[in-house]
Parts: sequence; structure tokens; C-alpha cells
Amino acid sequence: MRIILLGAPGAGKGTQAQFIMQQYGIPQISTGDMLRAAVKAGTSLGLQAKELMDAGKLVTDELVIALVKERIAQADCKKGFLLDGFPRTVPQADAMKAAGITVDYVLEFDVPDEVIIDRMSGRRIHAPSGRVYHTKYNPPKTEGIDDITGEALTIRKDDSEEIVSKRLVEYHQLTKPLINYYQHEAKLGHTQYFKVDGTQPVPMVTKALSTILK
Ligand code: AP5
Repeated sequence: MRIILLGAPGAGKGTQAQFIMQQYGIPQISTGDMLRAAVKAGTSLGLQAKELMDAGKLVTDELVIALVKERIAQADCKKGFLLDGFPRTVPQADAMKAAGITVDYVLEFDVPDEVIIDRMSGRRIHAPSGRVYHTKYNPPKTEGIDDITGEALTIRKDDSEEIVSKRLVEYHQLTKPLINYYQHEAKLGHTQYFKVDGTQPVPMVTKALSTILK
């Protein structure tokens, strides 16, 4: 099973990725998590990405495409994978197509900008695993602590209101065209496209996804 999660920053892609990974036994490929790990490790990729990420800008297509191609070639992706945050531009989608990488499902999370801005202020993450919480909508069992490891949760540097607004501008300009792109691909029979109401509570979104993927 090969799946793309498409949607604005904070639409709930990472949250639902946890459910899909567990349910279908496929790895999550989150370009955001991979880039944050590279920044933390201080690799040359991380150094190139850091400034752009901190400013709410997209990292260059060239860097991200190389990162994803390398990851998909790994053994654990043989049975399928879940792309979270990639492709994010038409050139990234074209590069994937040119490499012969097909997808079974494109799942769009529909959430208006004002809901996104409200959500981001309460997001807490467990960076090593990619687990995501929200202080109000999806709280951990103990405040500030990851449910599984007991480690402290952190706040993402790019979750300030100012940077979230910039990320939304990037989304509308560069990523939203992928909605038409993949709807067209679905009409040609190359994939299946579904739009999910991402404003519903987390368990309802999970239920909608499991109905689609059954
Ligand atoms: P990335 O890490 O991919 O960020 P994003 O796409 O902006 O998405 P987020 O992780 O912010 O949101 P999400 O949809 O996963 O929402 P979440 O589940 O956490 O990218 C970061 C940066 O890396 C980019 O800005 C760019 O610089 C770079 N980058 C990454 N990929 C790139 C690419 N392909 N090309 C170029 N650059 C790239 O949920 C958000 C919050 O809401 C959480 O607190 C959650 O608990 C809560 N929540 C979730 N669902 C619900 C719900 N249904 N109801 C209420 N609250 C909910």
C-alpha cells in the first residue's frame, strides 16, 4: 500500500500517520521529521535546510527529492509506505512520477487556515518518534510527557503564529496545486483520490480514513 497524505501544515497528517502505520504495517516517510533530524545532527543537508525551515519556507526540491528517493529504496518500503509532507510541489510530484514511483491513495485533509492557526499554538511533539499531541484536542496522558517513552515533549520552532502564517502562504502557492494534479491523476486511473474533513475530532478522522482504506 502506497499512500500520500496531502494537506496544509497542521492539518493532522502526522497525527493520522501514526494510526495508518500501525494499522497497515507500513513506514511513515515524513520529510519534515527527516529534515529536523538532519538539522539536529548538523549534517550538510541539515545546514542547508535549517534557515529555510526556520523562516517557514520550503526546502529546495532537489534536496528533498534526493532524500525521499534514497528512503524509498530501503528494504522496509518494499511492501508500501506512507508519504507525509511529500510531494509538496508540482516538480516533486513530477520527479516521483518520472522515477516510476506510483501511489495507490492520495488522501487530502481539508482544514481551513483559521483552524490551523488555532491548532499550532497547542502542538507538542515527541521528536524522536514523530508522535504528535495537542494540549487541548489530543493531550498526552501526563502533561508534557510522551505516552510511550516517558520523555519530555517539545514545541517546534516553526510553530509560532508568525511562521505558521508564512507556511500557510507557501502551502497555498506551492502545495495546493497538487490537489488538481492528483485529482487529474485519479481521473486517468493512476491513483485513487479522497478528501477527508480534517476539522472533525481525531478519532472521527481516523474512522473516515479506515473506511477509505478498507
Ligand atoms: P512538516 O514537518 O512536513 O510540516 P507541515 O506539513 O507543515 O505539517 P505539520 O507537521 O506542521 O502538520 P501535520 O499536518 O502533520 O499536523 P499534525 O498531525 O502535527 O514540514 C516542516 C518544514 O520542513 C516545512 O515548512 C519545510 O521547510 C520543510 N519540508 C518538509 N517537507 C518538505 C518538502 N517535501 N519540500 C520542501 N520542504 C519541505 O497536527 C497539528 C496539531 O493539531 C497537533 O497538535 C495535533 O495534535 C492537532 N490535531 C491533529 N488532528 C486534529 C484534529 N482532527 N482535531 C484537533 N486537533 C488536531
